[in-house]
Amino acid sequence: MAPKTITIIGSLNTDLVTHTPRVPIGGETLTATSFSTGSGGKGANQAVACARLSRPKPSSSQTHPTSDVVVKMVGGVGHDEFGPPLVESMKRDGIDTSGIRIVEGQTTGVAVIIVEEGSGENRILLNPGANYTLKAEDFRAPESLGTPLPDMIVMQLEIPLETVLQILDTAKKAGVDVLLNPAPAVKLPEEAYTAITHLIVNESEAAILSGRRVEEVEKEGFEWEGLASEFLRKGVQNVVVTLGAKGAYYATAAGGAGYIKAEKVEKVVDTTAAGDTFVGAYAVSIVRKSLPSGTSLSEEYKHKPLDEEVIRFACKAAARTVEKRGAQSAIPWADEIERHDA
Ligand code: ADP
Ligand code: NA
Repeated sequence: MAPKTITIIGSLNTDLVTHTPRVPIGGETLTATSFSTGSGGKGANQAVACARLSRPKPSSSQTHPTSDVVVKMVGGVGHDEFGPPLVESMKRDGIDTSGIRIVEGQTTGVAVIIVEEGSGENRILLNPGANYTLKAEDFRAPESLGTPLPDMIVMQLEIPLETVLQILDTAKKAGVDVLLNPAPAVKLPEEAYTAITHLIVNESEAAILSGRRVEEVEKEGFEWEGLASEFLRKGVQNVVVTLGAKGAYYATAAGGAGYIKAEKVEKVVDTTAAGDTFVGAYAVSIVRKSLPSGTSLSEEYKHKPLDEEVIRFACKAAARTVEKRGAQSAIPWADEIERHDA
């Protein structure tokens, strides 16, 4: 069978992380406990998750493991010390990076992260840089989504909203399935929902999109059925709400719905990128189930692929990420997921 293609259109960032016993006050200089850099950005993280979860971990001699799923990244980085290494590291994960532009005169997106050790609280300053060079007008033509068209487009909201809305519109007209993970969350225009095949949100994103207070949905015993059906009525075909340590709730336009428990983890080390891993695992298992694009059956089939098995696989993959420190570096490969069941 021809390989399936997932195209991620989104952000690439370098994370600059300092750990400190407490955050400095205005005018104060403090000595940090440690400093590290990492590859990040929700777009890049989700591309890495798609690539790793559809391939076994390569041995050192095998740099480009082949797979039945082709993963392409579309985005922008700066022509600076951060950009080219980000692209190289994605290549090493087997990602097609031909859609990443290295933009002259721009800086790579950076997240300046201060972690306060006692409280574990993060303070993050994000400079989007080259991520904001993705313009709506570049995505008006169907060919801008790729030739041949991909089986799925995956997006987040770390590139300009106008660009995301344009891609939704172009993808809908071209008949391409879109998975949207609207993070960081903002209210979306009504017409956007009619172009979303798969909407994956965490609890606070679900609250913001639906105009509720975050405290309301985080209450013990909140029932997700009602909120999910609001999204289905707006035209979304499949809705998934990730519930952290509680797992996930899913509902489909075809009628399938249910709560799936989170996978047990031995020790919660760092939940960063758990949501991104969930999205990548979900995308890989959906494209593997779907028929080739352009088949006459696909309209009818569209509603069928999402089932409990997809959500369980995504929960398992995300659990592995929670067990490891770091963001992108914590995302598992396909052969690392079942390890705990053996
Ligand atoms: P985000 O990271 O986007 O805020 P969540 O916190 O909902 O998203 O986590 C995404 C998924 O990661 C959850 O649906 C769950 O499967 C898994 N997960 C997160 N935290 C835990 C945990 N403590 N134990 C097990 N699984 C977890
Ligand atoms: Na992690």
